[in-house]
Amino acid sequence: MKIIRDIPSLRGQVRRWRGDSKTVGLIPTMGSLHAGHLSLVRQAKLDCDFAIATIFVNPTQFAPSEDFDTYPRDEARDIALLEEMGTDLLFSPDVGEMYADGFSTSVSVSGLSECLCGAARPHFFGGVATVVSKLLLQSLPDRAYFGEKDFQQLQVIKRMAQDLDIPVDIRGVPTMREDDGLAMSSRNKYLSPEERSVASTLYRVLQDVAQKFADGANAGAALAEGVATLRATGFDPIDYLEIRDSETFEALKTDNGKARVFVAAHLGGTRLIDNAAVPNQVVS
Ligand code: PAJ
Repeated sequence: MKIIRDIPSLRGQVRRWRGDSKTVGLIPTMGSLHAGHLSLVRQAKLDCDFAIATIFVNPTQFAPSEDFDTYPRDEARDIALLEEMGTDLLFSPDVGEMYADGFSTSVSVSGLSECLCGAARPHFFGGVATVVSKLLLQSLPDRAYFGEKDFQQLQVIKRMAQDLDIPVDIRGVPTMREDDGLAMSSRNKYLSPEERSVASTLYRVLQDVAQKFADGANAGAALAEGVATLRATGFDPIDYLEIRDSETFEALKTDNGKARVFVAAHLGGTRLIDNAAVPNQVVS
């Protein structure tokens, strides 16, 4: 696997590959890789001739009070995992390469960015949209891969690429979970053994709310029960537990066939997020 840390070398390599009529898939990450990230690499390898992973812990998507300094970093381990997956290139720039002195531009996606995680973390999607638009323009891949685990991020990035005419196909990849259902996340490392043993309640509540909604139960009551279960398990605060349209993020009271349940809640000092589709109603 080639390791590149500067933008001109990255551009040159992608230009040569695409000049040979080969297709290129990009997998942006912040490192501390787990099987969820690697599933994006696997999908890119299936779809494209070459797969490029990026590792960049992006300061602009962290608020000053958040975990930028302590975010888990282990490049040697990440490199070994990417090599095992047959990744062709790692782009791992430093902060100065991505944000030169005087950097003053930001990309903001209104509407989709304002609810759910955008309400709880107002700085977040601006930082994500800015860094992902830079990574896409630096590499100009055919396709770029993002996890459904961060479903709102995926929709914001699709909107941003479409609005800015960035010529890339944005692809979503299903969430990889631990055996008990907890969505894999780099931040799961922060959980104590006790917290880890109850963390999968988040997924069980999501599935329970989704099923009740599909069965025609009152949305407000299903959500209130879900919140009570999370509180009783020790989640506090609960940033949101909501049912929304999976494309527009409009809040829903009845199923429109595109409903999805979204949750973000803190367990000890760790903020966990997850989401699940509302299953299709069986029409008899
Ligand atoms: P990071 O949290 O490292 O995630 C990188 C990619 O892996 C994202 O597309 C995320 O949705 C996906 N991913 C994480 N956990 C997953 C899981 N359990 N199953 C499937 N995919 C999963 O998300 C970011 O980094 C950053 O915001 C980034 C897009 C790189 C911009 O800085």
